[in-house]
Amino acid sequence: MITSQNIAKLLENIKNSKETENLYFSISKSVIKKTTRNKKHNLSLIKNNIETDFKISSLYKSILDILIPILRKKKKLTIAQLGQSIDGRIALNNGNSHYINNKKGIHYLHCLRSISDAIIVGSNTIKKDDPQLTTRKIKGNNPRRIIIDGSLSLTNNYKIFNDGYKNIIFTKSKKNKILNNTTIIKLDKKNFTKNIIDQINKLEYRYILIEGGSKTISELINNKYIDLLQFIIAPIVIGSGINSLNLKEIVNLNKALRPKFSYNILEKELVVNLFLNS
Ligand SMILES: NC(=O)c1ccc[n+]([C@@H]2O[C@H](COP(=O)([O-])OP(=O)(O)OC[C@H]3O[C@@H](n4cnc5c(N)ncnc54)[C@H](OP(=O)(O)O)[C@@H]3O)[C@@H](O)[C@H]2O)c1
Repeated sequence: MITSQNIAKLLENIKNSKETENLYFSISKSVIKKTTRNKKHNLSLIKNNIETDFKISSLYKSILDILIPILRKKKKLTIAQLGQSIDGRIALNNGNSHYINNKKGIHYLHCLRSISDAIIVGSNTIKKDDPQLTTRKIKGNNPRRIIIDGSLSLTNNYKIFNDGYKNIIFTKSKKNKILNNTTIIKLDKKNFTKNIIDQINKLEYRYILIEGGSKTISELINNKYIDLLQFIIAPIVIGSGINSLNLKEIVNLNKALRPKFSYNILEKELVVNLFLNS
């Protein structure tokens, strides 16, 4: 049975497997081991298709359907992910975004975090949501948290500075500030976004998840940093609020991004994957 106790281990196994190998796992309670094919109660993964002979909930089946193709790509990937309404809003104008998407989607988000080596958010997301950015629902590895805080306006009041896990902040401010468990990296304000990207590339992470908000993701798309842009679209209309993206203005539709794409369904919501750099 795939549960919140073992899904992270399964994903880690797939992440660390070789590109060409077929994957077979034996699964018992919270232990997952690689095994030979014909044993009973195995999960077989063959060329991105899943053969199951054990129990898996529709939620975890959908999660594997989304994540296995990503993990089988076996290359460095920057993944930007946004949960939005059908009219493209990720929050109300007052910053409230709980909950646009189905609450069970948090299991997917925590799985996505668990395969990621680092997670990037903008300072407004910390201020409005006060997120923990951990994988606590599924007991996975916690990615290194990276926050872009241009003006270094965050304070120790937020959860990420009080749980003992480490953070990195990129800023263009010259202020001297101490934030708990945090390395503050000051970068030149000229070409700030490019400077951030150069610094992150030096860290040699394989999967980097950019969780928002709109300004952070838009700026990174403008700088061609995002490989996979993933929207989880809830069938609700908000009608006002913060747009998921605000990219550079174009005056001709032949300049619109028209990338390769794929779809998945997650708890009756549409997951759209746009492959921006392929
Ligand atoms: N639905 C979802 O999936 C989702 C996900 C995340 C967030 N949200 C919502 O989105 C809202 C926040 O989004 P947002 O667009 O307002 O803000 P944001 O992207 O979270 O943060 C923007 C701030 O981060 C700094 N920053 C980020 N990237 C930068 C860059 N490349 N260059 C310079 N500064 C950069 C700037 O700080 P300074 O101003 O100090 O320079 C900027 O003002 C919140 O309401 C949150 O609830 C929704």
